[in-house]
Amino acid sequence: MTIFRGAVFDTPESPFAGGRLRASSDEGIVVRDGVIEARGPFTELRGAHRDDDVVALDGGLLLPGFVDTHVHFPQVRVIGGIGLPLLEWLERRALPEEGRLADPAYAARVAADFVSGLVAAGTTAAMVFGSHFQAAVDALFESAATAGLRVTSGLVVSDRNLPAELLSTPERAYEESAGAARRWHGVGRARYAVTPRFSLSSSDALLAACAAVLDDVPGAFFTSHVNENLQEIEQVTRLFQLSTYVATYDRHGLLGRRSVLAHNVHPGDDELATLAARTASIAHCPTSNAALGSGLFPLARHVHQGVRVALGSDVGAGSGFSLLKEGLQAYYTQQQLGADGYALWPAHLLHLATSAGAAALDLPDVGHLSVGQRFDAVWLRPAPGSTYDVALRHASGPDDALGKTFTLGTTADVAGVWIDGEPVRLVDRRRPTG
Ligand code: GUN
Ligand code: ZN
Repeated sequence: MTIFRGAVFDTPESPFAGGRLRASSDEGIVVRDGVIEARGPFTELRGAHRDDDVVALDGGLLLPGFVDTHVHFPQVRVIGGIGLPLLEWLERRALPEEGRLADPAYAARVAADFVSGLVAAGTTAAMVFGSHFQAAVDALFESAATAGLRVTSGLVVSDRNLPAELLSTPERAYEESAGAARRWHGVGRARYAVTPRFSLSSSDALLAACAAVLDDVPGAFFTSHVNENLQEIEQVTRLFQLSTYVATYDRHGLLGRRSVLAHNVHPGDDELATLAARTASIAHCPTSNAALGSGLFPLARHVHQGVRVALGSDVGAGSGFSLLKEGLQAYYTQQQLGADGYALWPAHLLHLATSAGAAALDLPDVGHLSVGQRFDAVWLRPAPGSTYDVALRHASGPDDALGKTFTLGTTADVAGVWIDGEPVRLVDRRRPTG
């Protein structure tokens, strides 16, 4: 048994439903076999656990591990390719790099970079958009298993409107997706996600093949993109002869509790009603939306219509793996919407980055640090004398400290990461992987 001692912040109850930040400046958390057995003020807890080892997390904050609900593994090396809207960015920046993952050795190096980047940012669980190549998807699952990361991912499938080397057929998409699911779904912490890239690169036959995989793999997830960019939406509705983008997935029965759609920057009210009825989740990717000029995410409409929302970094259109940065950008986005924006407070940002993500990925045992939960956590400890350190030491209370953390905290402040109570090794990233 181990007792973790530190300043612990989490959001067991959603602030969108009246919950508040739970914060304790000197908390003890007793962990046995990866599960939180007890917690409370350290000095009280210590009496009943005199012989247990104490891990003293002096300075900074202990938070639940971050949950990234939308991040592209093949795009880690194209982060920062700014200056283009979605469709041009895909053509000129993302897709040429995705083609390079046809080489399994290259894909394995990218997978290693990707997983170490996620973990170094304090992310302990993620819905990972995979690759169009089977061997690359295997490499991602292997790297994630080595690190111990909770990954839900799958083979990306498409059968039109992409470079030829990224295209499949409905039949092949079914066979290869089902094969990858057989290799990885439920193995260790891995789960499979059926992953058509987006409707613009999918025929109805391909989406039907995706639905067949979902039927045949109990507990599999579904992930894709929706309503990201106005030009994309216009092309999708024209191609499918449907009035909405959401309908392209919904009419194949692809939306449910284990479905995560990225973006949804431009939804109709009828689409929000469908997403709410299906209990599907939206991965809100604020730095990506800003970088690609996709638009300002209508969070208030999602919340008021009962659509589940969590955060995604959307690397490589997004600006990096930090969910602190995504939380801050989510806040800025709502501010920019003026009266139409949702008034976010620090507790909302923490919830979006942790417990909301765990709910979206159907991981009921993580996302907050209550008794009975698994101990997935990140320790943020600012470098002494840094502006974050100064700000944190002068915070007026827990909410202020958390606001300062989202504003000033970076991946450089991640001092420790645990999954199931085990420390995750932070790779020495000064060594290039080629
Ligand atoms: N839509 C289809 N593919 C992608 C992608 O790789 N990134 C983003 N942001 N949107 C997409
Ligand atoms: Zn994406």
